[in-house]
Amino acid sequence: MAETIEFRLNGKNIAVELDASKTLLWVLRTHFNLTGTKYGCGEGYCGACTVLIDGSAVRSCITSLGEVAGKSVVTIEGLADGDKLHPVQQAFVDNDALQCGYCTPGMIMNAVGLINDNPNPTHEDIIWGMENNLCRCGAHNRIIEAIETAAA
Ligand code: FES
Repeated sequence: MAETIEFRLNGKNIAVELDASKTLLWVLRTHFNLTGTKYGCGEGYCGACTVLIDGSAVRSCITSLGEVAGKSVVTIEGLADGDKLHPVQQAFVDNDALQCGYCTPGMIMNAVGLINDNPNPTHEDIIWGMENNLCRCGAHNRIIEAIETAAA
């Protein structure tokens, strides 16, 4: 049953009339056309769908719309400051930390959440913090280097 859900999305106050049990991933991609957030496994395992909710990395495929009521959601589209990339985005570019790019938005959002929680992560903190974001191309080493660069 549709109900009005209010939240912030990429810095703007939003009110939507939707079934609160819809996944946030579905709402972002289908309702708002924010397709930077990717569908991978749909079950919380791969990290492709990661967004920030109140600054923490969360998997949008297992988060309902109702759970974000009153909260602030940031997707990859909302991360840059105008034309200026977020430092983690810039570090991914500088370190060539991607291959096909499908996992990249989720990787970046998870890395931003990791640095928000721990501004000075060690190499091990980054490895453990990124462990459950999967890259099938094998760009993990460059991804870890990029996050180390961004957090330095
Ligand atoms: Fe959400 Fe894989 S699509 S964790």
